[in-house]
Amino acid sequence: MTNLYTNLDQTNIPKHVAFIMDGNGRWAKSQGQHRLFGHAAGVESVKEIIKTAREIGVQFLTMYAFSTENWNRPAEEVAGLMDLLVQAITNETDDMHKNGVRLLTIGDIEALPEGCVSSLKEAIDKTKDNTALTLILALNYSARWEITNACKLIAEKVKQGVLSTDQITEDQINKTLNTSMIPDPELLIRTSGECRISNFLLWQLSYTELYFTAVQWPEFRRAEFIHAICAFQQRERRFGLTSEQLNEHK
Ligand code: FPP
Repeated sequence: MTNLYTNLDQTNIPKHVAFIMDGNGRWAKSQGQHRLFGHAAGVESVKEIIKTAREIGVQFLTMYAFSTENWNRPAEEVAGLMDLLVQAITNETDDMHKNGVRLLTIGDIEALPEGCVSSLKEAIDKTKDNTALTLILALNYSARWEITNACKLIAEKVKQGVLSTDQITEDQINKTLNTSMIPDPELLIRTSGECRISNFLLWQLSYTELYFTAVQWPEFRRAEFIHAICAFQQRERRFGLTSEQLNEHK
């Protein structure tokens, strides 16, 4: 391990880190390049973050790769992003598998182009028993879509008499969301200087520490990730308690 890791408290590594990967387009423009050049560079950041996460022991990574709102981008960019996704999955699955990475998705992937759906399903199936790290790609995802769906599913169960209204608990809602098998993130990182959540994991982020950086996603690499985790380790996570109460339990 390099010096980069010396400030890192190995006993307080977040189990789950979520990312809003923003700034690919602006970064590409700053290089005098097309937006897709920025997305391609963004894939390199994804690869480096996965590698770093494995090295330091982060167990779950969720990446907001395509939102339900992203369909409104120019058709050429949407098609380019889908191609990039298929290319990344095709090129990286063997390596991910070798390194014990399990791939999952959240969002309505059935509405993605057919080539995308099949390569995703193949990669998900191939990596399903891996345990070193779970990579969750949020694709055609938005939190309001996810919560609306959960409401419909629960309402249907109540209508069928399988569930009573008293049984609609936080736990029941957790179980009905796309993320049912995934712990809530302890840390959310958004790049590119925007300080908002943009319809991402609205339920799951209730107690998550938020970290915003001006660095554009294609330049968000190992050092920036470690820096974000060190910043997280300085935070006091109180979950509604007082500082004194927390210290009593230490
Ligand atoms: C935001 O930058 C980025 C996206 C909408 C897509 C993110 C996708 C990738 C990094 C590539 C595919 C991912 C995987 C996991 C293989 P932006 O276009 O909104 O940038 P801007 O705000 O500067 O315009």
